[in-house]
Amino acid sequence: MRRRLVAGNWKMHGSRASIQALLGSILAGLGDAGGAECAVCVPYPYLQLVAERLKGTRIAWGAQNVSEHAQGAYTGEVSAAMLAELGCKYALVGHSERRQLYGETDAQVAAKFAAAHGAGLTPILCVGETLAERDAGRTDEVVARQLDAVLAKCGKEAVAKSVVAYEPVWAIGTGRTASPGQAQAVHAFARKRLAPATRILYGGSVKPDNAAAIFAMADVDGGLIGGASLAAEDFLAILRGAGSAG
Ligand code: PGA
Repeated sequence: MRRRLVAGNWKMHGSRASIQALLGSILAGLGDAGGAECAVCVPYPYLQLVAERLKGTRIAWGAQNVSEHAQGAYTGEVSAAMLAELGCKYALVGHSERRQLYGETDAQVAAKFAAAHGAGLTPILCVGETLAERDAGRTDEVVARQLDAVLAKCGKEAVAKSVVAYEPVWAIGTGRTASPGQAQAVHAFARKRLAPATRILYGGSVKPDNAAAIFAMADVDGGLIGGASLAAEDFLAILRGAGSAG
């Protein structure tokens, strides 16, 4: 049985004060939030603060990106070893905003995955198609290409120890979530390429009112939550949904 994981992606939001408050509210409500694993992926400058606050709690933390390089003259980049020193368990790799806005290629994403995995982090590999790709009937092909780049470089075992997040680009931040059936179809397709134990999260407009139905799907092992993870009550409700579904 794959243990469910609900990870928040706070993107480029927050301040020291708002993050302190959000963590406080999440921690206060965690008692009755069920048995799913929980993590938050926060902006780099807040990792130290989050590490201090979450150490010894059941919430893990992670970064939203990582350099593919181990060290060197890469101004502005942050290495996987640096993130490991900050106690990060996770690093998002290949989020669609990184692919679309910063031109990250499949090869670069695979290199980032390898760097994170090599430093002992658990990469959360994000894959997913755009609306144009879905409308053209290319969803499976795109997801396969994104997965295969990492599988070819790192192998099935490394991916099995990590996490995959299926995030259809058209569902991210749009309020238009994939139906449970749409999510399940892509997850089942992805799982055929992956070792059976690989956890596959769904992400894209997950909210308290749709989370349980999505998490009830056989191949959905939790969620990657953007907007709703910035409101403690919503995030906790989604976590409860993951703890009770299935
Ligand atoms: P959303 O974002 O929940 O706001 O759609 C998900 C993500 O980008 O990881």
